[in-house]
Amino acid sequence: MQRRQFMKTAAAGTGLLILPSGARAGKNAPGNKLNVALIGVWGRGLAHYDMLAEENVVALCDVNEARFPDALKRFPRAKTYVDWRKCLDQKDIDAVVCCTADHTHAFIANWALNRDMHVYMEKPLAITVEEARVVRANWLKKKDKLATQVGMQRHAMQNFNRVRELIHDGAIGELTAAYAWGDRQIRRPAYLPAEGQPPAGFHFDLWLGPSPEHPYNPGYFSGGPGMNCLSWNMFWDFGVGQIGDMGSHTMDLVWNVVDAALPTSAEAKGEKFNPDVTPVECESHFEHPANDWRGPIRISWYQGGPMPQSPKPYVDLRKIGHGAMFKGSKGYVICDFASRLLLPFGDNADLTYYRPRKPDQVLPPLGHFQKQWLDACKDTRLKTACDFEYSGNMIEQLVLGLVAYRVGKKLDYDGAAGRVTNVPEANSLLSRQYRPGWTLDG
Ligand SMILES: NC(=O)c1ccc[n+]([C@@H]2O[C@H](COP(=O)([O-])OP(=O)(O)OC[C@H]3O[C@@H](n4cnc5c(N)ncnc54)[C@H](O)[C@@H]3O)[C@@H](O)[C@H]2O)c1
Repeated sequence: MQRRQFMKTAAAGTGLLILPSGARAGKNAPGNKLNVALIGVWGRGLAHYDMLAEENVVALCDVNEARFPDALKRFPRAKTYVDWRKCLDQKDIDAVVCCTADHTHAFIANWALNRDMHVYMEKPLAITVEEARVVRANWLKKKDKLATQVGMQRHAMQNFNRVRELIHDGAIGELTAAYAWGDRQIRRPAYLPAEGQPPAGFHFDLWLGPSPEHPYNPGYFSGGPGMNCLSWNMFWDFGVGQIGDMGSHTMDLVWNVVDAALPTSAEAKGEKFNPDVTPVECESHFEHPANDWRGPIRISWYQGGPMPQSPKPYVDLRKIGHGAMFKGSKGYVICDFASRLLLPFGDNADLTYYRPRKPDQVLPPLGHFQKQWLDACKDTRLKTACDFEYSGNMIEQLVLGLVAYRVGKKLDYDGAAGRVTNVPEANSLLSRQYRPGWTLDG
């Protein structure tokens, strides 16, 4: 951890990256630059333009050709594609930034890794257990040469470090449980009915990609830039609802602290199952084994209404729309993304066991989140905070919760094998069927 933090600061603090002698930034680009493909050029894609303007953007891919003219104004030398599979065959690409719909993330990540490209993938990394496992395993084989990051950019907020320090330094005694929640509610009754035709240049069939066929409806594409995901991410074939949306950011507050891998169990409950739409109201609970600094813990995720119980009536957790809470033997830490509250609890909670860090001992700032990945692409000795192992484990846990919700039973989970050991029918829900012609491993 210390080395990881040191390398992070070394890069972030100077704003410069000194490459080891003989190292080149991109395999293909001249100078200290990468040849980058941006897949999904509008919406969330726009948020990456400024950082990409410092590299060579050699390929732009979008299923909607109407997005190309503006993108080409910014990146005039790029070739354009409507099919990401063809885009990834462009030979001079070093790195991929992907901002497409969630049901294509694991595909694009895995195909890019297969071609030895660095990957920045918008969250969530995957929408099934199998997808998370495939992408993580592929990256772990190549982690010494490829840099990965999942777009959980709030991770760079200083509060993440402060919360980690409080708990690791014993401010709440022995950690026993951690909770994350989000209150976003976007209700849809069913997939949208057929309506109209895709506009000229919009390749709806490529947008569906590996997912089953659905009729076109402009309602899937009615949101503003960076918000359109809220028009499709709640449908099972296109996303995992709030788990993939704010859940990725909010569970990251917990994940950054607990140093967990995969759970040994999952149980969940929520509103009545809808075969079209992921649940709005749901809660899931996971048991994790002890590690080298803490005992076994329980991690919980609440969305759309259900909430963990507040430790004191005067603390109204509902006033924190997206937040986390850590329970220890001597108290609680409650936080949102930017602030935290320490609540010592019980007769022995006099804080004599806790010493705040001195200024030179606090964890260093992460710096610019996307730039952390670019720096690691150029010098793969550098680490990224939300690589495909960290993020793959986190999303595997969360989507396993959806499987537990669907079968309505507590699942015993063998994380090494990726199998549910006590409820055989749950195993068929760890993966999904792809349309003929689409393979995760291409
Ligand atoms: N990190 C964050 O804070 C944050 C914020 C917003 C969105 N996101 C994520 O970004 C992704 C995109 O969200 P959005 O709201 O921009 O969605 P969007 O529907 O607007 O899609 C973004 C762009 O990708 C294109 N696209 C979609 N599927 C494609 C495909 N298969 N191939 C090529 N191009 C494709 C779209 O045409 C569009 O131009 C989602 O996964 C979402 O979770 C992350």
